[in-house]
Amino acid sequence: MAFLDKHKAIETHATLLMVLSLLVVTIGGIVQIVPLFYLENTIEKVEGVRPYTPLELAGRSIYIREGCYNCHSQMIRPMRDEVERYGHYSLAAESMYDRPFQWGSKRTGPDLARVGGRYSDEWHQDHFTNAKSVVPESVMPPYGFLANNVIDGKYIQDVLITNRLTGVPYTDAMVENALADFTAQADPNADGAGLTDRYTWKEENGVVTQAFPKTINIRNFDGQPELTEMDALIAYIQVLGTMVDFSTFTPVANR
Ligand code: HEC
Repeated sequence: MAFLDKHKAIETHATLLMVLSLLVVTIGGIVQIVPLFYLENTIEKVEGVRPYTPLELAGRSIYIREGCYNCHSQMIRPMRDEVERYGHYSLAAESMYDRPFQWGSKRTGPDLARVGGRYSDEWHQDHFTNAKSVVPESVMPPYGFLANNVIDGKYIQDVLITNRLTGVPYTDAMVENALADFTAQADPNADGAGLTDRYTWKEENGVVTQAFPKTINIRNFDGQPELTEMDALIAYIQVLGTMVDFSTFTPVANR
């Protein structure tokens, strides 16, 4: 066949074959890659998702330091058994300010993506101190020492600045008030209005408005007078999965 004869010319000339293959791969590559440059964002913005407060951010660092991710995931897959057990499947936007994300890859314990608000602070304190006291069959190690580790927030401003460098939209006001916000969140007697103002916000088309009606958890998380690592860890655990209001959320595809 004439058509196959022409193809024979390509197959018998290594250079021609290479040049034409490269051309095909280049076109294919351009078609795949170029559209990505015109997408503003690959993550759908979701109302309510905000950067962590300084205290939550400190709790997150303790979570990472203690290796909680070795036993816990923070990623609910869109499968029926998971959604029935843990709640709405995780949205990409919910970890958009996580540096690095804590999806994890192993579940010795349950997924923690929506554990915020499920138990009281006291329950967490008992559980971290001695998991078997509340869940007798638990194999979770004890973390009671966290309640003895007083933290002063000396470096918290630097942590916010570092997160900002990697793209987390901390405002100048948030950075300036990092230490004040850090201590105010665990002190119910402090004036938490500034903290709440700074962190209850929403962003639309690049414009930040502070109209988002959610509140920030401000209380003494571990019940002790000192501000400890236990306060920070519980503050972090209690915010997980609570930022998005799933009673009103509809994915873009269903709108
Ligand atoms: C050796 C594995 C292991 C490690 C490490 C571990 N956990 Fe757990 N965790 C478990 C297991 C197993 C359970 C389920 C039994 C229970 O509730 O204690 C659990 C339960 C939990 C729960 C209750 C979840 C629910 O929905 O009932 C929380 C919260 C939790 N862990 C937080 C943490 C944090 C924070 C850390 C790090 C400081 C941590 N865990 C480290 C194994 C682990």
